[in-house]
Amino acid sequence: MSAIHIALLGYGTVGKGVYQTVQSHQKKLQALLGKEVKIVGILVKNINKHTKPDEDVLLTDDFEKIITLDQLDVVIDAIVGTDPCFTYLQQAIKRGCHVITANKEMFAHHGGQLKQLASENGVSLGFEATVAGGIPVIQTIKQLLNVNNVDKVQGILNGTSNFILTKMREENLPFASALKLAQEKGYAEADPTNDVDGYDAFYKAVILSELAFGEAPNWDESIREGIRGITPEQVEIFSSLGFRFKHVASIERTVSGIQCTVKPVLVNVQHPFYHVEGVQNAVSIDGDIVGNISLQGPGAGMLPTASAVIEDLAHINRKNLPEAFPKQKPEGNDASTLSFWAI
Ligand code: NDP
Ligand code: HSE
Repeated sequence: MSAIHIALLGYGTVGKGVYQTVQSHQKKLQALLGKEVKIVGILVKNINKHTKPDEDVLLTDDFEKIITLDQLDVVIDAIVGTDPCFTYLQQAIKRGCHVITANKEMFAHHGGQLKQLASENGVSLGFEATVAGGIPVIQTIKQLLNVNNVDKVQGILNGTSNFILTKMREENLPFASALKLAQEKGYAEADPTNDVDGYDAFYKAVILSELAFGEAPNWDESIREGIRGITPEQVEIFSSLGFRFKHVASIERTVSGIQCTVKPVLVNVQHPFYHVEGVQNAVSIDGDIVGNISLQGPGAGMLPTASAVIEDLAHINRKNLPEAFPKQKPEGNDASTLSFWAI
């Protein structure tokens, strides 16, 4: 059986989740794509921290060794920061590789350039994992945009902030202890400033804006506030009055351009975001034909993010198959043995 050869940039929370998922779902991927899915190279920063997950995999801290691998079809980016990541992905596209990225900071800054380069080189670019973890919000908006006009997108887009606010309210944890817990669980960025000061949610809002409205908001005119200033006393007082703090990003097309606001707000029990708790994210999309669509799910973490990356991988490679939807025998019970489902 022929293979899809993949290089993985980064072997931290997300990189390890992707590696594990490729192993755990190999049979399903093979059935879907008609090819073996092989991770042939892994790039890390500090080589001494790591051990090879498999003898056949090249583990290196030298990108040159990755980009010159004999066989390379897809590069998956799970590293941190804009540079050198942007340079690496440009090289990968120029080599003719499909690229999948989870790196929202890099993609908010350079997504437009990468999309252009990918189109010039006839390769695909997947970025589902850049926004809202495991929630398929990018595919949903792409699907809607076939005919709908999207007018507004709102969301809880940073899992770490929502997790911290939930822990502060439910367990009376101080901000610093709740953040430490989010770091231990792999939700927070290496530098959690991006999470707690609203940059991460802002980058995600920029990515959604470019997708939904075809343009980014003006960065200097956008409002970006994080949750750092919220005190346990405020959480307690507003909670006793029936309100919860939620960190909400809002992007809207207006007559004066794209308005983008990222800040903590107070919501009451009637608000759809009131019950979005812990590391969950939520996204609310207004389309002119469909009305409102709301999505909710895990917004960060190893497997939810790996899910978004792997769905991109399947989507990109399935596009190259002769039949768009190959028939698969479903796994599990034969339908004739089932009576009623209880949910
Ligand atoms: P980690 O800090 O856990 O892992 C980052 C990995 O990237 C490490 O293996 C690190 O190497 C490697 N790395 C960092 N910089 C470089 C570099 N310049 N060259 C080579 N390797 C490098 O981060 P995460 O896995 O949590 O996140 C990875 C990316 O995915 C980030 O862009 C993040 O924003 C994004 N993301 C994260 C989510 C999450 O829930 N954690 C969810 C969605 C997206 P070493 O181990 O040697 O230091
Ligand atoms: N640090 C990010 C968050 C990871 O907490 O939402 C997912 O993008």
